[in-house]
Amino acid sequence: MNAQELTDLKQAALAEAAAATDAAALEAVRIKYLGRNGRVPEIMDNLRNIPAADRRDVGRLANELKNELQNLVNARKQELQQSAGSTGPAAFDYTLPGRWRGLGSRHPVTQVIERTIGIFRSMGFTVADGPDIETEYHNFDALNTPADHPSRDTQDTFYLKTGQLLRTQTSPVQIRVMEKQKPPVRIIAPGRCYRRDTTDATHSANFHQIEGLYVDRHVSMAELKGDLTHFARQLMGPGVNIRFRPHFFPFTEPSVEYDFSCHVCGGKGCRVCKFSGWIEISGAGMVNPKVFDIVGYDPEEFTGYAFGMGVERIAMILYGIPDIRMLYENDVRFLEQF
Ligand code: PHE
Repeated sequence: MNAQELTDLKQAALAEAAAATDAAALEAVRIKYLGRNGRVPEIMDNLRNIPAADRRDVGRLANELKNELQNLVNARKQELQQSAGSTGPAAFDYTLPGRWRGLGSRHPVTQVIERTIGIFRSMGFTVADGPDIETEYHNFDALNTPADHPSRDTQDTFYLKTGQLLRTQTSPVQIRVMEKQKPPVRIIAPGRCYRRDTTDATHSANFHQIEGLYVDRHVSMAELKGDLTHFARQLMGPGVNIRFRPHFFPFTEPSVEYDFSCHVCGGKGCRVCKFSGWIEISGAGMVNPKVFDIVGYDPEEFTGYAFGMGVERIAMILYGIPDIRMLYENDVRFLEQF
């Protein structure tokens, strides 16, 4: 190899590197000339066979070729990387298949909460919020729950080392709202609740409730029933009825459990309502005057109703979901149906 040949080879190598349009092509050029079995090492190996008179020139040119090509390859590499990251037309490969962004859907629990908020908003309620980690005071004491009430048992309630607990119900939000706000009050409060339940088809240690509270002058049980009936019909259909069954809660007096008539069979009895015609939703009642005393409302002046709703339970009957655990398994095949 003489000096002229080497100069030509350098031109060719630099032109090839400059023409490479992607990283792979560039790497191929580098390997061809600078790789272990490439042209430049080969020339270097052969130097000793070259006539002594030419050896210095050829060696110098080979070194030049090596350095210049290496520099050009480095520079081109950076250029290619930058243009791959830019959105300019030169960098955009129009032949690439488009990126698929699957549209998600809302979780059934979220859907029930959002629909419920919508219905109660239209009735003049606003949304209130409280912490998941509650004080024993807000979750039990202020709700007139006696110190020996079974729901306080560590078998039913998760207590924290701090002396706080994971709220077992959304009812403490009632207290938090009334502590801050004078009547009239008209709020709903959706949120997570926690109980030490063993998980089965209808129980979960973590579930959701929606609390409702309405306090004003002359609020009556008839309004409780009317408002819940309106809600039930908005959510499940115009034929739905509601019934109260006597019950006990420390923070309401009188207290009821309430059921919706089965929206599937219209009350005749079917699998969904376990052939009773009714579906149990949760508890409700008139706010106990003792609770008003605790938060500093005058029970002579104000009355109020309160209710709770089990969100998972409503979602299950609304969408025909047979097992509460399906709501928490995050199986996309299940979730994408909603
Ligand atoms: N907090 C009660 C429960 O979890 C439900 C309830 C709410 C009852 C409001 C009365 C009034 O069972």
